[in-house]
Amino acid sequence: MSIRLNDKFIRRYVSAEEMEGIRPQVELALETLQQGSGLGADFLGWIRRPVDYDKEEYARIQAAAEKIRKSCDVLIVIGIGGSYLGARAAIEFVRGNYYNSLHGDVPEVYFAGNSISASALADTLRLCEGKDICVNVVSKSGTTTEPAVAFRIFRELLEKKYGEKEARERIFVTTDKKRGKLKEFADSKGYETFVIPDDIGGRYSVLTAVGLLPIAVCGINTDDMLRGAADAMRAYTTAKFEENDCLKYAAYRNILYRAGKVTEILAAYEPSLQMVGEWWKQLFGESEGKDAKGLFPASVIFSTDLHSMGQMIQQGMRNIFETVLDVHASNDKVPVPMDLEDADGMNFLSGKDLHEINRCAMEATLCAHSDGGVPNIVLEIPDRSAYSFGYLVYFFELACGVSGYTLGVNPFNQPGVEAYKSNMFALLGKPDPSLDALRTLLEQQMK
Ligand code: PA5
Repeated sequence: MSIRLNDKFIRRYVSAEEMEGIRPQVELALETLQQGSGLGADFLGWIRRPVDYDKEEYARIQAAAEKIRKSCDVLIVIGIGGSYLGARAAIEFVRGNYYNSLHGDVPEVYFAGNSISASALADTLRLCEGKDICVNVVSKSGTTTEPAVAFRIFRELLEKKYGEKEARERIFVTTDKKRGKLKEFADSKGYETFVIPDDIGGRYSVLTAVGLLPIAVCGINTDDMLRGAADAMRAYTTAKFEENDCLKYAAYRNILYRAGKVTEILAAYEPSLQMVGEWWKQLFGESEGKDAKGLFPASVIFSTDLHSMGQMIQQGMRNIFETVLDVHASNDKVPVPMDLEDADGMNFLSGKDLHEINRCAMEATLCAHSDGGVPNIVLEIPDRSAYSFGYLVYFFELACGVSGYTLGVNPFNQPGVEAYKSNMFALLGKPDPSLDALRTLLEQQMK
């Protein structure tokens, strides 16, 4: 079962003629991606990744996941940005927000090294007290400050707790195939390593070892996930524009952007999709936000955020549109009970299932926002299975590549991310003479 784009709430904002007008650009963008003749063409390994991967490494990932499940209570996944968001999005999508409390016979999985907060790190250490721990450090460059510092701390903990020899069996490193400080260090220590391919950037890497190892540790069927992604690949890289919802999505967002709808809000009605929103924001934000262009990607969970952001969306600046993730089937049935007193006046809902009410809230909101001047694209997702997650990942990755080329940017680099890092290193006194002038400048600015 695939993802379907429902255009009922967008048709009044985007005409068939506008779609026909942008069609050649979108088709050319897809062709350019497939031929590898556009900007950032060295980073297109994700296009065929669902079927084109190292089967020997895949088997090692499954074996490592099994070893981790058997030998620890807690897996700490250390990474930032593309090196953690996809894995966390997949785990919460399939297993829900409380996966660590409702984990059954698989280890708890916590994510560290995705901020520089002392308290966040200290809390994660507290969670590990009295438990057997494994660590999966994920960093393509191997030099990113946040994960590097967190890895130091957890490595020290493991070596103190188990000794260097046993710690070696509990540390798994996902990094570049050959290069980088982390790869060198892992080899020198004898840690098992997995590869982030040269031709796949961080935010496109969830279907590599980056995502697969933590996801498999949680007992999620990664074969199904890759099958979903492979089916999406076959569908969206071959279908003609009029039957290709992925191309249509890229077309709609570019038409809306050119019409001044410069903020795209990804809305979901399942809290378990919150991290999908975080992953999606990185994918589109880092891919398109450059050369003074790009839609600003935001995300909300409804109905929760209808009680906070709802006002803004209904009546604020009319520079937004929404992309709604509509998950059709719920994992659970929760009927509203009958209450003889009916003090809250909610007996008209008794017997109805919460999921049915949730979908009704969605339909009501779609009508209200659309009437309020907000175009809505609806993406219908059958369920929260691993298969659907894989399908969704591929849908957005391909749409992002196509959309970025249609926008006229390189969707596969991120030159702007370096600015804060150089400033931070300069201020922290990193011994690097090339940072001296910058340090003086920043110190003057902060006076
Ligand atoms: O998409 C990207 O490339 C970035 O978000 C990176 O994933 C992030 O900066 C982490 O980099 P690294 O994996 O090199 O530590």
